[in-house]
Amino acid sequence: MKQVKVFLNEDEIPRQWYNIMADMPTPMSPPLHPGTGQPLKPEDMAQIFPMNLIEQEMSTERWIDIPEPVLEKYMLWRPSPLYRAYNLEKLLDAPVKIYYKHEGVSPAGSHKPNTAVAQAYYNKVFGIKKLSTETGAGQWGSALSMACNMFGLECRVFMVRVSYDQKPYRRLMMQTWGAKCFASPSELTETGRKVLAQNPDSPGSLGIAISEAIEEIVGKEDSRYSLGSVLNHVMLHQTIIGLEAQKQLDMIGEYPDVIIGCAGGGSNFAGLALPFTRDKIHGKEIAIIAAEPASCPTLTRAPFGYDFGDLAMTTPLLPMYSLGHDYVPAPIHAGGLRYHGMAPIISHLVKEGIMEARAYPQLETFEAGIQWARSEAFIPAPETCHAIAAVVQEAKRAKEEGKEKVILFNWSGHGLVDLASYDAYLSGKLNNYQFPEEDIEQAKKTLEQFPKP
Ligand SMILES: Cc1ncc(COP(=O)(O)O)c(C=O)c1O
Repeated sequence: MKQVKVFLNEDEIPRQWYNIMADMPTPMSPPLHPGTGQPLKPEDMAQIFPMNLIEQEMSTERWIDIPEPVLEKYMLWRPSPLYRAYNLEKLLDAPVKIYYKHEGVSPAGSHKPNTAVAQAYYNKVFGIKKLSTETGAGQWGSALSMACNMFGLECRVFMVRVSYDQKPYRRLMMQTWGAKCFASPSELTETGRKVLAQNPDSPGSLGIAISEAIEEIVGKEDSRYSLGSVLNHVMLHQTIIGLEAQKQLDMIGEYPDVIIGCAGGGSNFAGLALPFTRDKIHGKEIAIIAAEPASCPTLTRAPFGYDFGDLAMTTPLLPMYSLGHDYVPAPIHAGGLRYHGMAPIISHLVKEGIMEARAYPQLETFEAGIQWARSEAFIPAPETCHAIAAVVQEAKRAKEEGKEKVILFNWSGHGLVDLASYDAYLSGKLNNYQFPEEDIEQAKKTLEQFPKP
């Protein structure tokens, strides 16, 4: 019999996260204080995050211990299985082996709980009682709701309007785990009210929702904000995915030629790719590819520079590829990929040519998702469909070039709560959104106001 899945025993779970900051081949520009423009100091972030997470955010230690209570929660679904996609391989008839990490097995259905559980834990031990956050498709909001419930914290989630309307079931997941969920822009914050005054029908954006979630907690001693992607500590927590994958591939004597993940803020891609990126920095030949939407082409077309993570310019200035903090991306169904910026770690590695990025139009990604569902059976989240589109493209290339390749990708989440998107696709109602060149020019102008990295 062919081996379809590779499992690690529970006692083989990695006990440390990997921090790429210890191995960066070239220095990264620091985040800057939004007011002074000076490199950020830990205390500058103390109103927003607990100090234990700020320390992780700034750490250059290569290995960071995973606390026992976090490991205990991880055990509910981790180690996640490594699968081989034999059926898709057969369908594509290409000289490739396709492996994937199934992160859809978590209770919330995606990779997001890997950092949600860690962040809830660190906030709890710091004495925080309430967390507030934003969510796109609702994957992150539901993950944090679950994690807050596990550690006895209150949770308030600002959900991007377009997803709030498209995906009512994620709101219900959040409520089931005891959180409160609001459509963003909302009337609850000054930022929300301002946006609604200008455009009452605003579909919302992650940038707006982040501003609302931060505004909620600033100045409140018992409350902090939590971000589901982009920041260094989030990338760190997600490395459990790649570290497990390395052990699993070792067990079957494989090593990938190509690593793929979809990229919204960069966390699931980073989680799988960073432990292998370390190998690449030390000489391994691997192609490491981020797949993003053509309608929100942050890595493939946006300028690199300092920009804010949110509309209201409350976050630190981050060195990253950005479409502009005030950019409202098209209302595509992959809500988790509608972010104007990108993790500074991923941005830096793409800029240095260690990673690469490709953009895919919405229809191509759903076509790939359907191909997957009809061969491998699991229904992928619309975000994950972007990674699958890249896998299909790589397999076709391998066939054209007559080269054997081992492809490893991150199956970041299931789409069982995203079936409305599949309905829209299957009934021919979905479009490809073009990203206009003028908007790139506008992004350049936005970034020109800020210091150069
Ligand atoms: C299933 C899934 N994949 C990918 C993403 C993109 O986020 P990130 O780039 O941080 O992994 C999201 C975000 O919500 C998601 O829900």
